[in-house]
Amino acid sequence: HIAGPCALVMFGVTGDLASKKLMPAIYDLANRGLLPPGFALIGFGRRDWTDDNFADNVMLPAVKASARTPFRDEVWQQVRDGIRFVSGEFDTDGFARLADVLREVDESRGTGGNHAFYLSIPPGLFPTVIGLLRSHGMAAQDHGQWSRVVIEKPFGHDLKSAQELNEVVSTAYPSSSVFRIDHYLGKETVQNLLALRFANQLFEPVWNNNYVDQVQITMAEDIGIGGRAGYYDGIGAARDVIQNHLLQLLALTAMEEPTSFEARQLRAEKAKVLAATRPPERLDLHTARGRYTAAWAGGEKVGGYLDEPRIPADSTTETYAAIRVDIDNRRWAGVPFYLRAGKRMPRRVTEIALGFKQAPHLPFAETDTAELGYNALVLRIQPDEGVTLRFGAKVPGTQMEIREVNMDFAYGGSFTESSPEAYERLMLDVLLGDPPLFPQHEEVELSWKILDPILNYWESLGTPPDDYEAGTWGPASADEMLARDGFAWRRP
Ligand code: BG6
Repeated sequence: HIAGPCALVMFGVTGDLASKKLMPAIYDLANRGLLPPGFALIGFGRRDWTDDNFADNVMLPAVKASARTPFRDEVWQQVRDGIRFVSGEFDTDGFARLADVLREVDESRGTGGNHAFYLSIPPGLFPTVIGLLRSHGMAAQDHGQWSRVVIEKPFGHDLKSAQELNEVVSTAYPSSSVFRIDHYLGKETVQNLLALRFANQLFEPVWNNNYVDQVQITMAEDIGIGGRAGYYDGIGAARDVIQNHLLQLLALTAMEEPTSFEARQLRAEKAKVLAATRPPERLDLHTARGRYTAAWAGGEKVGGYLDEPRIPADSTTETYAAIRVDIDNRRWAGVPFYLRAGKRMPRRVTEIALGFKQAPHLPFAETDTAELGYNALVLRIQPDEGVTLRFGAKVPGTQMEIREVNMDFAYGGSFTESSPEAYERLMLDVLLGDPPLFPQHEEVELSWKILDPILNYWESLGTPPDDYEAGTWGPASADEMLARDGFAWRRP
């Protein structure tokens, strides 16, 4: 799967995402031989840069700092030849120049009118940029050529704004040309969820409410919000990652088997299960939100959320969110799905854990099973990628004593192939025009439908989130939320 001749235009080249993920991914793709030799990368921004400035002072350091594959000069030279920079504003002048540069590379690099536009910019600017692309003929789907637009979350901040955003995008681009990035879908371990479930006979028979009694999906980060106050404040954990990453993980975990892994089939199954997913009835009992406070974490003193630069003292943004959702279908009725995400947790870990019911009868003395925990299947999304099965085993000795043990599959131990970075895979799929890993607007809407009542409820409280110390597993209210249901959060 090598991309055909094309040009990628990047808006938002000075952002974090561009330097940490997008530019290194372009280089890695070239290094793996997956980009055509004539590929062109065009940065667009306000800075007064030349092509050389952009290539040598922006892209090269980004590649050297963050590429996954070794640096090879001949590969860099090949990429560099196709680099251009258009210095301009989001106005007619700027876009006329962009159109000129595209015409130039179509000629000189042979990119033949195939263009992808990566909007790594705040969504508030989408209407302007998309309008300009359209009025300068850059959205047109001419015969035999393609024009695609790539958009990054947040896809709105609630259902209504997501619909408005979609209106804007769909006036210029048909849905098959819109690629919405949810980078979790580009992760190897997330795709492995499909392999685990549908390539094996072993798991599917117990993958339902006859055996599973709860599912916990965790996305914990040890970092705080760092320099991202401008983006994060007013957004918070639920909008930042539950609306997209966690609900996508839920959809892949809970959906029925798709007829094939073609985009249409996959999306249909994800949409079906998201449509059956409902927010809790008792929002007071089955949601929790928190905000980190200053503490010693990982051997250093870290400030609280309100101490971060540019966070207003009256902020009510949550840095931790936990919700319970239920899925109203035959497979999952009665099984709570608990979703939680937080910053400044004890460690960085994303996992999906299915907890199983207790054996209906235990022919052992109670003391023998004192250390028997829960049977669980844990899909470790990151960083320690793999799968763990937890079950009870006999402790060696003359007594019958049962203790919980782990059976582990680790990527590193079983495969020598290295995983591409999520953005590498997704960027390649954009250039190939391969849509299965990109959520469609319908999924985005369904996710907001689940989240909107929860966000409205939190807002109606008018109070700040509950405190938790940086470096801990979230506020006490989140523990109470599970305890009420007779469960406890995993401490991975
Ligand atoms: C992003 C969120 O989507 O995912 C960030 O906006 C978060 O807040 C990041 O830090 C985490 O991504 P990853 O791949 O490191 O888990």
